[in-house]
Amino acid sequence: MAVRPPAARGTARRWALVLLLAAVACDDRDAGDAERMERTLAQLATVPHLTQADLEEGERLFDRFCAACHGARASGTEQGPPLVHRVYEPAHHGDYAFVRAVTTGVRAHHWSFGDMPPVEEIEPEQIIKVIGYIRLLQREAGIR
Ligand code: HEC
Repeated sequence: MAVRPPAARGTARRWALVLLLAAVACDDRDAGDAERMERTLAQLATVPHLTQADLEEGERLFDRFCAACHGARASGTEQGPPLVHRVYEPAHHGDYAFVRAVTTGVRAHHWSFGDMPPVEEIEPEQIIKVIGYIRLLQREAGIR
């Protein structure tokens, strides 16, 4: 065992404590997010087809929860990118990526708008309808 001067041992202990507290704090937050993500993904698998009424509700939910940043009909604003865009076509950002974005947030990586915070108040079955609505807009714009 290496013998270290007492000062170095004290510093190491302090760091260990900081890391431990950080890990506990992250775990708490991630547990909630992960649980909501799991519940949404389970629904994604069991909702093979959305009705016209579901898509209309998806539009209302999008306007309420997403449009402030992503714009009317997902056309983008100064706070967030358009989602009717090739970057977000299903082959590049599948439904899983949408569920993850809404439930756990997004770190800025494609654009320079900043991070997207998780959307807290939206329920799993509502997220599915919002995704259905965005996919409809994408198809209408020829993005498949
Ligand atoms: C407070 C602003 C804000 C709100 C509200 C918001 N977003 Fe975002 N969203 C962003 C920004 C900014 C990005 C781009 C991050 C980047 O640079 O890639 C983003 C990215 C995304 C992405 C891409 C994720 C990826 O993996 O790259 C999806 C999908 C998305 N948002 C869906 C939604 C949906 C659906 C809603 C509503 C339920 C919503 N967002 C609400 C700001 C927002």
